[in-house]
Amino acid sequence: MPDSVSEQKTLYVVVCAAGPASDVGTLVDLAQEQGWTVQVMATPSAVSFIDVEALEKQTGRPVRSQHRAPGDPRSPKADAIIIAPATFNTINKLANGIADNYVLDVVNEAIGLGVPTVILPFVNSAYASRTPFHMSVEKLRSEQITVLLGPDTFEPHEVGDGSNKTKVFPWKETLIKIQHKAQNTKVH
Ligand SMILES: Cc1cc2nc3c(=O)[nH]c(=O)nc-3n(C[C@H](O)[C@H](O)[C@H](O)COP(=O)(O)O)c2cc1C
Repeated sequence: MPDSVSEQKTLYVVVCAAGPASDVGTLVDLAQEQGWTVQVMATPSAVSFIDVEALEKQTGRPVRSQHRAPGDPRSPKADAIIIAPATFNTINKLANGIADNYVLDVVNEAIGLGVPTVILPFVNSAYASRTPFHMSVEKLRSEQITVLLGPDTFEPHEVGDGSNKTKVFPWKETLIKIQHKAQNTKVH
């Protein structure tokens, strides 16, 4: 079976406030090439990391970071979700069912519905060494969420801005993972 999407499906690309956020257009391009309709969602903190106008032009859809006003159109339902870059903060909150912003509301519910989800963290080694973080990653994996963290996928960066790792952030590999997962998952 080819990796590309045979019918038009919606991929939520959820962006958190970490270095690679400014390059999320790369993932949007790759996903659109594979036939996905892309809905970009940003945490409130991530809004200042991204070029909202450019992403809206690229996707033809508003970037969502808060609940819509009455009368605004709904976002299409997610067939799959990528959270990239995922922060220490959002990973810990999501693992513990905290929904204190729009993106977390949406993703917590989608996970409960069985929407295939892949998380690509961008964290430094200090954050990654924390016990709560290990527990969060384990909890998310126990809910069948793919967390691309580790020697075979993507490693934490040294404390600092992580700019050397930003250049090798695996957008393409993450898209391939979600495509495989979406093909093999039945949403409730
Ligand atoms: C310039 C800058 C870079 C940051 N980079 C990271 C990062 O790489 N990983 C991370 O987990 N947090 C990083 N942070 C901290 C997060 O932005 C902060 O924890 C924020 O509350 C995360 O919000 P969010 O999870 O809702 O996006 C960075 C903050 C700033 C100002």
